[in-house]
Amino acid sequence: MLSSMKSDVRAVFDNDPAARSVFEVVFTYSGLHAIWFHRIAHWFYRRKWYTIARIISQTSRFITGIEIHPGARIGRRFFIDHGMGVVIGETCEIGDDVVMYHGVTLGGTGKERGKRHPTVGSNVVISAGAKVLGSFTVGDNSRIGANAVVLSEVPPNSTVVGPKARIVKMDGVRVDKLDHAKNVPDPVVDIMRQMQQQIDELKEAWAQEKTQVNGLKATLEQERDRYAVLLTKLKEERVAGFQAALDEAK
Ligand SMILES: CC(C)(COP(=O)(O)OP(=O)(O)OC[C@H]1O[C@@H](n2cnc3c(N)ncnc32)[C@H](O)[C@@H]1OP(=O)(O)O)[C@@H](O)C(=O)NCCC(=O)NCCS
Repeated sequence: MLSSMKSDVRAVFDNDPAARSVFEVVFTYSGLHAIWFHRIAHWFYRRKWYTIARIISQTSRFITGIEIHPGARIGRRFFIDHGMGVVIGETCEIGDDVVMYHGVTLGGTGKERGKRHPTVGSNVVISAGAKVLGSFTVGDNSRIGANAVVLSEVPPNSTVVGPKARIVKMDGVRVDKLDHAKNVPDPVVDIMRQMQQQIDELKEAWAQEKTQVNGLKATLEQERDRYAVLLTKLKEERVAGFQAALDEAK
């Protein structure tokens, strides 16, 4: 327990450039107080002394503004900076060297039973105001942006940002996913559609021109054949005429 407490203090110095002395850190860092209270509460929780564990965690919440359920399993060198408004649920598991800021919730969605809170890997940063909700994993070395709302697994070595709010119900009725997707304006798709329409129009015009040219070609060939027949006939008539004149002269 003592070595764990020492490494918790070291974590403050590693992560907060504003930390000046051990004395100051031990007496003024509420994140540190919360994790120490939690380690004691968790000790009771593991021995099934649930009520004492809850009393300790609620006392800690009253003093620090940080609510960690005594059932949460937290690794070494966990650092909560500023702390106020942090909530960590019962079935959370947190690895080593995790940094967390104020306003973070590691909670459930209210739909799951049993394991219903996130599992956070080691060396993860969870920024101010982030909400991580559900029983998925946040991979090692990942970073969660300020105010992000994370509802699904985060792969290791990733950064995730953004609150993902979208309409799912209107007047109590679920909005159809496809219909919803249709209503989202997408300028790139619009331009692609216009280009496709222009290509289709050009293709049609070209096909009409081709048909006309083929028609002209066929007419020309017919005329050429007719002309050849006429020419042959004329030649034959002339030869016959000459022959007749010759015969007469004889
Ligand atoms: C998530 C975070 C750690 C990412 O930092 P990073 O890896 O350096 O990322 P970048 O700053 O390069 O940003 C990458 C992109 O994500 C966006 N982004 C970063 N943080 C964001 C956030 N919290 N919400 C929405 N978008 C965010 C950036 O605008 C950028 O987008 P762009 O490429 O379209 O311009 C950081 O932005 C953050 O949220 N830090 C908050 C730390 C904190 O809580 N401090 C409190 C101290 S009291």
